[in-house]
Amino acid sequence: MNRRVSGTLVRSIAALLGSGPLFAAPAVGQPGATEATSPQAAAVKVCSGCHTMQIVMDTPKDYDAWHDTVQAMIDRGARGTPDEFDLVMDFLFQNMTTIDVNHADLEALMTVLHASQPTANAIVARRTSRPFKDLADLESSVPGLDKTVLDGKKRMIFFQ
Ligand code: HEC
Repeated sequence: MNRRVSGTLVRSIAALLGSGPLFAAPAVGQPGATEATSPQAAAVKVCSGCHTMQIVMDTPKDYDAWHDTVQAMIDRGARGTPDEFDLVMDFLFQNMTTIDVNHADLEALMTVLHASQPTANAIVARRTSRPFKDLADLESSVPGLDKTVLDGKKRMIFFQ
């Protein structure tokens, strides 16, 4: 698959047409493109046609903001299968999503912290009586969290 060439092509078409609906249909229909099956591959495939992945990696956002941004990109012409968009969301939630552990809802806690439902429930139960102070407090109070995951994204985890 020649992603670099089609990326360039997509950018020049985008420059010619702007980002209107005309541009949406044909631009990303790469002939023979196989469906991406990992979160990262899906993100690269769906999100790097018009700009580099850098723009995605430079702007951590919260859970709701990513939904809005991806919708905005679809409106601009981003294309992929429903499965690929699910994987793109996984990629964004796992790598580029900020979270306020003391206020996020259950779904965001599970997705962004890679927590099971019982673990996310334990977070909510504990913060209701006493909000978490910091990451160390979270890790020592709630068993079952993946320390490697948390350490890898600690700049995106907040306690407000
Ligand atoms: C069809 C072209 C196109 C595709 C595909 C595309 N984008 Fe964009 N994106 C743009 C344009 C144009 C901008 C320019 C800035 C603006 O107008 O917001 C942009 C800007 C951005 C920004 C910076 C502005 C902001 O809202 O924070 C982010 C982040 C972003 N894109 C994420 C994504 C993600 C994630 C995907 C994959 C789901 C994606 N883009 C796919 C066209 C595209």
